[in-house]
Amino acid sequence: MTESRFLRACRREPVDATPIWLMRQAGRYMPEYRAVRARYSMLDVIRTPELACEITLQPINAFELDAAIIFADILPVLIGMGLDLEFVKGEGPVINNPITSPADVDALRTPSAEENAPYTLEAIRLVRRELGDRIPLIGFSGAPFTLASYAIEGGGSKNHVEVKSFMLSEPDAWHRLMDKLTAVVSSYLVAQAGAGAQALQVFDSWAGVLAPDDFREYVLPYAQRVVAAAQSTGVPVIYFGTDLNGMLPLLPETGADVIGVDWRIGIDHAWAQLGAGVAVQGNLDPVALFGPWAEVERRADDILRRVGGRPGHIFNLGHGILPHTPVENVKRLAEYVHERSANREKDG
Ligand code: CP3
Repeated sequence: MTESRFLRACRREPVDATPIWLMRQAGRYMPEYRAVRARYSMLDVIRTPELACEITLQPINAFELDAAIIFADILPVLIGMGLDLEFVKGEGPVINNPITSPADVDALRTPSAEENAPYTLEAIRLVRRELGDRIPLIGFSGAPFTLASYAIEGGGSKNHVEVKSFMLSEPDAWHRLMDKLTAVVSSYLVAQAGAGAQALQVFDSWAGVLAPDDFREYVLPYAQRVVAAAQSTGVPVIYFGTDLNGMLPLLPETGADVIGVDWRIGIDHAWAQLGAGVAVQGNLDPVALFGPWAEVERRADDILRRVGGRPGHIFNLGHGILPHTPVENVKRLAEYVHERSANREKDG
């Protein structure tokens, strides 16, 4: 097939229309997803390749999207390292034995991906078989910092006091922890590409809680290593975080081909700071989809206008799609981005 517009955009090549996919595009806003989750737990779905495959394809069958993303989560790799993860209804992920000391770090195992997440690798093979050459499949992992945050906080966190104070108080153990997470994440990303993932996204969702100097010293070297490992497979790599707009010039140093940008900045201003060497993914406010269609359209137009047809834009939200998002707006958004950006090309 001619290469997809999504993969072309990752490489900053011209496209016939702007590609679009949505972070968390398979999820609770879709009735088809809720129907599966009514019968199986989150971990059961992730660990059953046929179910993960089915859910991955739900948004692809419902909307005009340019990439699929494998249905999984960033946290289950922690289970194989020795952490007791649960998804608690109404609360989100909980780790019952969080890391509190250097000894806890030293007790962590570093299993290979084949040992740690064979079900996700199998789900990738199934989805590729189903998709054929229709659209590419994205694999993903959490980045070392964001995983460390869950491992130390024991769940979501408002101020990230535990993870940041561990970093400051136990710098040697911190670096040992980040080394172990880097090994596990690198193996996981490489194995996903081996199983058939055609692009890889690294979610560093919480890196923006750090001051830029701390990001550079304690986090960036590990982000660089996982990105380089992922790129060694030959597929493009997307690095995504939120609240990183105060350190955009640092982000190309991750080495990623594409940087994901949240909605708290104009995408043109973000790209100016990121520089010409990266593609950009984003950045509609996920809550904009709750508005009337005219407002969704106005904001989508604004993003396309700011990009101005520059090669290397992948339309997405600035963070994951939220539960209760009106499905009709998602459908119209995907169609609109294609239609509008294709006309722009024609108009010159
Ligand atoms: O994008 C996709 O469609 C692929 C699936 C995907 C999930 N999680 C499924 C999921 C992806 C890419 C993720 C990534 C993820 N998981 C991140 C990084 C992205 C981000 O949003 O910042 C993080 C931080 C997590 C951890 C996580 N998993 C949290 C905090 C929660 C609970 C909060 C929430 O949104 O429910 C989860 C659960 C989760 N992961 C759900 C889904 C569809 C909801 C589970 C359910 O109740 O059905």
